[in-house]
Amino acid sequence: KDRLQSIALERVSFAYTPGEPVLREVSFTAQQGQTVALVGPTGAGKTSVLNLLQRFYDPDSGRIRINGVDLRHWDIRRLRGMTALVTQEPVLFSATLRENIFARPDQADEATVTRILQAAHCEALVQRLPLGLDTHLEKGGASLSSGERQLITIARALARDAQLILLDEATSYIDSQTEAVIHKALHNLIAGRTCVLVAHRLSTARSADRILVLHQGRVAEAGDHRQLMERRGLYWRLHRQ
Ligand code: GTP
Ligand code: MG
Repeated sequence: KDRLQSIALERVSFAYTPGEPVLREVSFTAQQGQTVALVGPTGAGKTSVLNLLQRFYDPDSGRIRINGVDLRHWDIRRLRGMTALVTQEPVLFSATLRENIFARPDQADEATVTRILQAAHCEALVQRLPLGLDTHLEKGGASLSSGERQLITIARALARDAQLILLDEATSYIDSQTEAVIHKALHNLIAGRTCVLVAHRLSTARSADRILVLHQGRVAEAGDHRQLMERRGLYWRLHRQ
């Protein structure tokens, strides 16, 4: 199994439409186990960074490296095997909850299933459903709340034991109780793993090893929470809004 040691963006620029750059010379590194949080206004380019890390697109200039190797030289299946995406709008399969979480349900023993459901705070959801884990989710989980769908994708990422977590925090309104539960589940997911996190709530970014404030595709500021607050720049102003 591939071990992830580091990821690095080196002066990455990118445009969906030629002449309209959405990322301009973005650089950052994350060592194994570290969390990098991306914050900034809507349209700043946060999700675009995650798109490039998944190789949905390649940079126009600059390099993305994993373990020092250019992302374009990575086998796409190895990359996907290492990476788990937790998105704003999770897509679930029209299959049982169990199949949605475990790629090979027959190979997940009971202790593992229990551990993952606990860590992802999915137990209440499982109890609520008529057939528990074997409940068939209709229409991609349309009957579940977006918070519940997000917990399921967290469980899925835990089940795969992915080493690189790409996380796009939900922008949609969720009640504070659900938010607290998701926060705890995410904490369990991120612990010990390398994570690039798009944070819409500043509280999520707070404990990151490194915070990047993106503004119009550029890294306007970078540092940890304390450093950025002391700087009294953009990040500090975002807190006062
Ligand atoms: P929020 O999620 O709203 O907080 O913004 P973000 O920081 O994630 O911005 P994102 O990276 O999604 O977008 C950056 C810019 O690229 C914006 O001007 C978008 O309109 C544009 N953009 C995003 N996705 C696409 C795409 O698939 N095609 C094109 N042409 N433009 C895109
Ligand atoms: Mg986004």
